[in-house]
Amino acid sequence: MNIVQTIEELRALRWADPSLTWGLVPTMGALHEGHLSLVRRARAENDRVAVSVFVNPTQFNNAADLEKYPRTLERDCELLAAEGCELVWAPTELIMYPPGYQTTIIVEAITKLLEGAHRPGHFAGVATVVAKLFNAVEPTRAYFGQKDAQQVAVIKQMVRDLDFNLEIVVCPIVREPDGLAMSSRNTRLNPAEREAALVLNRSLAAAVAEWESGRRDADHLRASMLALLEAEPLARVDYVSAADPATLQELTGPVESALLSMAVYIGDVRLIDNMLVGVE
Ligand code: PAF
Repeated sequence: MNIVQTIEELRALRWADPSLTWGLVPTMGALHEGHLSLVRRARAENDRVAVSVFVNPTQFNNAADLEKYPRTLERDCELLAAEGCELVWAPTELIMYPPGYQTTIIVEAITKLLEGAHRPGHFAGVATVVAKLFNAVEPTRAYFGQKDAQQVAVIKQMVRDLDFNLEIVVCPIVREPDGLAMSSRNTRLNPAEREAALVLNRSLAAAVAEWESGRRDADHLRASMLALLEAEPLARVDYVSAADPATLQELTGPVESALLSMAVYIGDVRLIDNMLVGVE
């Protein structure tokens, strides 16, 4: 497995044989089973797999969060080598944002809701870095997890709007055996918080059960999630949503499908999770 830093090294390997298809898995490192499931899917669907590892400062709207973000490149590379990944690209901040850097990509309406409303500037940072990753690697396909449902929607919008020539592949959320959605942030939870964090999955599952029993009213689904979250003393709700899966606009009254999502602080760790209902 090749581990490179510069865009020149990356491109030399990427274009050594132009006939090969490449899958790109963009990450910020601290890899877990969720990331590895994306790598396995990319492995199955492409001749070669590249994984980018870059903790992108411009998508953090909280300096403490950026500082605390786990950085485990050596272990990440061991995991990726074991998955048969061919190329790890781990650029420095100076390579991605050299002195004089000036360009930001703003995706409009879809970034103003949910995560975007609570994390100003976050999606401008995500869209910009993902565009740079796409331009540097020029992958055939790029792989993202459904856990970051709005990120997926924003990236798909950007790919359509800016005519990127690649396919976006969305992979299911990977959960711990007890239901907690895998996240690099989970390592920051103490044992009591780790237990309390199960409330996200529990409240989503309860809303899905309500949906399946025929109570398909968006206000009721939101209220049902909120009631369970508020009963957990270690949880502080940032938002709870039942939104249109395509536009992410909040829904009200009876609905045919919904993206049920939430952001919840457990202690000082902000966790997100979601489930879709009524979507094939
Ligand atoms: O999902 C992530 O880990 C990041 O937002 C991404 C897509 C790698 C961009 O920095």
